[in-house]
Amino acid sequence: MKEMLEKIRASALEALNEENADLEAIRIRFLGKKGELTAVLRGMGALSAEERPIIGQLANEVRAEIEKAIAERSSAAAEKKLAEKLLSEKIDVTMPAKAEIGHIHPLTLISRELEDIFVGMGFSIVEGPEVELDYYNFQALNIPENHPARDTQDTFYITDKILLRSQTSPVQARTMEVQKPPIRIISPGRVYRSDAVDATHSPLFHQLEGLVIDKNITMGDLKGVLEIFAKETFGEDTRIRFRPHHFPFTEPSAEVDVSCFACGGNGCRMCKGEGWIEILGAGMVHPNVLRNCGIDPDVYSGFAFGFGIERIAMLKYHIDDMRLLYENDVRFLSQF
Ligand code: PHE
Repeated sequence: MKEMLEKIRASALEALNEENADLEAIRIRFLGKKGELTAVLRGMGALSAEERPIIGQLANEVRAEIEKAIAERSSAAAEKKLAEKLLSEKIDVTMPAKAEIGHIHPLTLISRELEDIFVGMGFSIVEGPEVELDYYNFQALNIPENHPARDTQDTFYITDKILLRSQTSPVQARTMEVQKPPIRIISPGRVYRSDAVDATHSPLFHQLEGLVIDKNITMGDLKGVLEIFAKETFGEDTRIRFRPHHFPFTEPSAEVDVSCFACGGNGCRMCKGEGWIEILGAGMVHPNVLRNCGIDPDVYSGFAFGFGIERIAMLKYHIDDMRLLYENDVRFLSQF
C-alpha cells in the first residue's frame, strides 16, 4: 500500500507539472470520492493494527501534498492569466492620436469675425441676461405698454414682468444706466421670439447690436461705422444705403441695405433682382431712451444698430436654410 501511495503521489505531481494541466480533473482523479487516493484508503480496513497508523499518516501526507500542489498551480495560473491580460490590454500612450479635428461652427465663426471688426473700430463687447425684465427689453427703450412688439405672440413671457429677451438692445439700456458717455459697445447674444421654425425663422437666434453715445455724434458717424462693417464683412466693393423706417428707440430710424455682393448691384437670384439686400436696422438713439437711462439728450447724442447674426452668416456663406445652422449635421459643419 505504501508503494501505491508513493505512486499516487508521483503521478499526481507529474500530472500537475504538465503545461496545460486541468487542475479540476486532476483533483477529481486523485482526491475525489471515486479517486485513486480514496480507493487506497478504503482498503485500509484490511491492514494490521500496527500498519494502519503508518499508512494513514502517509496517506494524509500525500493528500496534503497534492492539495498544496493544486493550490499553488492554481494561483500561478491565475497570475499568468492576469499578466497576459495586462499585456494584451496595454495602451501605448506614445502612439499618435487618431482623433478627427473638429470644425468651428459657422455661427461661432461669423460671430468672431463680426466682433473682431467692431473691436477693431474701438468697440467693447458687453453681454447681458437672456432672462430679462420687461423694463429693459421694452419700457426703457421707449416701447410703450400697448406696442405690438410686446404681444405675447411675439415675446416669450415668463411672468408679467419677466421675459426672454427679444432683442439684445436691453444690454444697451443697462450699459447706459451704469456707464457715462463716451460709450462704444456691441452686444452680441441669443434672443428669443415666438416664431415658427422655417428656412428663415427660429424661436432662438442671435443678434449683434451696437451703441455709440458721446457729444456731437451724428448720423454721419453711424454711416461711417456701417460702411466699414459692410466692406469688411462682404467685400471692399460693397456699398450701403439707408431707407427710412420706424423703431420706437431710434429717431430718425433707418433700414440699411448692402449692395448685392453676388452681382455687384445689377440684380440676381441672391438679391431677388433688386441689387440690394436688407441687413440691419439702425438710427439715432431716441431722446426718451437717453433720458430713461439717465443721459441728458441736450448734451449727448448717439446711434444704435442691430442685425441678426444668422442672416449675415446665411448671406456670407450662401446657406439657404437657417435650420442647417442648428441641426449639427457633420456633412454641413465640416465645410467650415
Ligand atoms: N433691436 C432691433 C431689432 O431687434 C434692431 C435695432 C437695433 C434697430 C438698434 C435700430 C437700432 O429689430
